Amino acid sequence: MSQAASPALKLRVVVLISGSGSNLQALIDGVNSGDLPIEIAAVISNRPEVMGLVRASKAGIPTLVLDHKNYATREAFDVELMRTIDAYTPGLVVLAGFMRILTPAFTEHYLGRMLNIHPSLLPKFQGLHTHQRAIDAGESHHGVSVHFVTAELDGGPVVIQARVPVLASDDAGLLAKRVQRQEHVIYPLAVKWFAEGKLRMANGKAELDGELLAESGYQIEANDI
Ligand code: GRF
Repeated sequence: MSQAASPALKLRVVVLISGSGSNLQALIDGVNSGDLPIEIAAVISNRPEVMGLVRASKAGIPTLVLDHKNYATREAFDVELMRTIDAYTPGLVVLAGFMRILTPAFTEHYLGRMLNIHPSLLPKFQGLHTHQRAIDAGESHHGVSVHFVTAELDGGPVVIQARVPVLASDDAGLLAKRVQRQEHVIYPLAVKWFAEGKLRMANGKAELDGELLAESGYQIEANDI
């Protein structure tokens, strides 16, 4: 029996968001087109009333809000978040614009089964305001990385990167849009690889089809100006 014919065999995924959820939408679209062999078991947001929750509800996916402001410490929030996620028994946790620094206990718990998307060509520009920083640094190219999550912020092994040109006419908003188009291509692809058992993390490195990936991951060059 093929995976497509048996929903029970599909990888269960929990997606964590904090905002617009355009990457979540790309995953939902991949599921709906039959291209992505996953079941999005739940979408959890640390912020109430964000667009990503609307997108999930429209797709019939269970949603939860776990507002970090209701927790005295980062540790207490992460413990409750783990409990909430694990109730859905996911095989993969996908951080899709989840704007929280995670505790080591959290990252350790999901080591090798949690992915993040970061809008830069890691290891360049970890942290925030990546598009403006790339412009200010005079970079000819910028882009986006999908990586396994480790205790180091934006520091886990890179799975895939898409590069885009930085144009003289760019401001941070224009550059962000160009990068985001690539986000919506590479995140579903990385999740698909994981769901198909092609992608894994072993000894702190990312492997695709049993081969060690380069430090900068699988490379995609976008001919998209
Ligand atoms: C994306 O730019 C992603 O790279 C970053 O947060 C943003 C999330 O956007 N981690 P969205 O909520 O998926 O639209």
